[in-house]
Amino acid sequence: MVYVTRRATFSASHRLFNPALSDEENEKLYDKCANPRGHGHNYVLEVTVAGKQSERSGYVIDLKILKQILETEIIRKVDHKHLNEDVDFLKGVIPTTENLAREFWKILEPKIPVGTLCSIRLSETENNSVEYRGE
Ligand code: NI
Repeated sequence: MVYVTRRATFSASHRLFNPALSDEENEKLYDKCANPRGHGHNYVLEVTVAGKQSERSGYVIDLKILKQILETEIIRKVDHKHLNEDVDFLKGVIPTTENLAREFWKILEPKIPVGTLCSIRLSETENNSVEYRGE
């Protein structure tokens, strides 16, 4: 099995806020991440596909194809957007890094034409990242 990873970046704003909780509880839970007007991150998305290499091409998946899928399905929809307000597939989702990785998985998993989606790593800062590998 060979693992192939494509990296993509986007910038977006978000606010961590659970509407089921009071303002005070949200502030206690999320601290400054619950600030009413939100804040931004430069996200790094790394998507890994696992598979066997094609004998003909030597590829698991042509990275140009993976790049295009990430661009069309994710980056174009989230780059320079407010994740709480502007993104259809994130409606009703608290935009933690964990939840973003899971939502990206749901979209990407059926779109991968060869091999299988193995992991989605999403970094919110240099120090904080989440990896999701499916259920
Ligand atoms: Ni944040």
